[in-house]
Amino acid sequence: MRRPIIAGNWKMNNTIADTKTLINDLKPLVKDAQCDVVICVPYTDLATAVAETKGSNIKVGSENVHWAEKGAFTGEISAKMLVELGVEYAIVGHSERRQYFGETDQTVNARTKAALAAGLKPIVCVGELLEEREAGKTEEVVVRQTTEAFKDIPDDELVNIVIAYEPVWAIGTGKTATSQDANDTIKIIRDTMANLYCPKCAENKVRIQYGGSMNPKNATELMAMPQIDGGLIGGASLKAEDFSKVVNF
Ligand code: 13P
Repeated sequence: MRRPIIAGNWKMNNTIADTKTLINDLKPLVKDAQCDVVICVPYTDLATAVAETKGSNIKVGSENVHWAEKGAFTGEISAKMLVELGVEYAIVGHSERRQYFGETDQTVNARTKAALAAGLKPIVCVGELLEEREAGKTEEVVVRQTTEAFKDIPDDELVNIVIAYEPVWAIGTGKTATSQDANDTIKIIRDTMANLYCPKCAENKVRIQYGGSMNPKNATELMAMPQIDGGLIGGASLKAEDFSKVVNF
């Protein structure tokens, strides 16, 4: 019932020339995908990515978006600016932003609302740190992050939002959560959404991805889990062949 969605997160990689090459390598490899395909790219690559993906089944996202419509926010980019470029998705609250750039549950909520107001589809990231997992706090952390991120967001917006569960200890480390662990935590997130909205909303409208060292080798098993609706792919999204294998899980 929930259409799978596989998104790449290029992070701070790829020049404009790299963007052209990667997208043109990717297009024929993912053209028959049975899922939504998204690439989230650096701001400087967005215009190129939109132009190169035109007429294909690949959608383009940014890696962040500011919460204000406009104003004195040096170095930031608004949702309206992204929409004007033809961008459709925006990652919000990635753990690297939370870790290195002072992102909080409150700014994640503000960015999510601004994205929705402008017609962008936010990919809202949640996930626990290694020390939180080891302290048995995974549930507490993802419930809090999810609850705060969705504050004042009406249920008719749920179809426009994707949640990405990314355990921080699994990002870029080669350590994947076991498919059962990922499924169990995503179930906790879905139950949280059921409490915040309604069980049917959570079941039918909310797509939740797994992210963290997802690659061609583990994608099939992860995607077979009933709660996992997709993936947010870092390293493996930088190679057309690897990303296409995940997309064609
Ligand atoms: P890796 O796939 O490189 O672990 O990165 C995951 C991630 O952070 C995607 O947003």
